[in-house]
Amino acid sequence: MTTPARAISARDISKVFFSAAGTTVALNHVSLDVDPGEFVCILGPSGCGKSTLLRVLGGLETATAGDVVLASEDRPAFVFQEHGVFPWYTVLENVAFGLRMNGVGRRSRIATAREWIHLVGLSDFEDAYPHNLSGGMRQRTAIARAFATGSDLLLMDEPLGALDAQTRQLMQELLIDLWEKERKTVVLVTHSIEEAILLGDRVVMMSARPGRIRREIAVPFARPRSMELEASAEFAEMRYGIWNDLRDEVMASEEAGA
Ligand SMILES: Nc1ncnc2c1ncn2[C@@H]1O[C@H](COP(=O)(O)OP(=O)(O)OP(=O)(O)O)[C@@H](O)[C@H]1O
Ligand SMILES: [Mg+2]
Repeated sequence: MTTPARAISARDISKVFFSAAGTTVALNHVSLDVDPGEFVCILGPSGCGKSTLLRVLGGLETATAGDVVLASEDRPAFVFQEHGVFPWYTVLENVAFGLRMNGVGRRSRIATAREWIHLVGLSDFEDAYPHNLSGGMRQRTAIARAFATGSDLLLMDEPLGALDAQTRQLMQELLIDLWEKERKTVVLVTHSIEEAILLGDRVVMMSARPGRIRREIAVPFARPRSMELEASAEFAEMRYGIWNDLRDEVMASEEAGA
């Protein structure tokens, strides 16, 4: 029997940026394996290379050294913090866009887009343009688009980072529900320890720049999960343990003036 391929296998990734301002080592020998259907959250101080890692994993950026192998032939679907939807397209057109890129016919595109728009609770806003939506609704659109592409690999860079605290909680619940439904492979970058524990099967903590993986923590909580988990003693203990480690890196990053 063959073992199923890793969804992502990244070996010894380094990334160096050369610019007029100098040379920046953003990633330094990072290796990361992600299983199919796994939800991995990446935590780390500002400027440690989280976005760079995600971009290298998804092929938006080439590594200076090292290899990335993706199991899926699909183009990974990205969700960014902001500006991830096209202002000149309606919600429906935005969500259907990824399917168009993948060569899906118009009728089928619209049907699939509508399903995802329904799942993210935006059915009444199909024909609205992004500037008429709240930040939360725009992110729902971006998330619906990523899921609708049918890609089995979703790469999310602080997708909820620009939202107010209450909207963010609702969106965390939404992400939990969508992921339970589809079990896609997700790598999500966040600054929130709570979000990482609530959503992830595994938390990958990066060190201050140059980014390396400092520690990986398996999240043992059963699924389906709900926000109630946050009220438990086990959750608090895990959050504290992670913060205890992360604070060293955040301080190192502050001292380096990142
Ligand atoms: N295109 C680029 N050219 C030059 N330097 C870059 C480029 N992109 C990123 N960097 C630098 O690489 C380092 C890592 O950046 P990156 O954006 O990956 O960090 P991050 O962990 O995502 O930070 P944040 O938490 O603030 O989003 C930073 O020092 C950044 O200034
Ligand atoms: Mg970033």
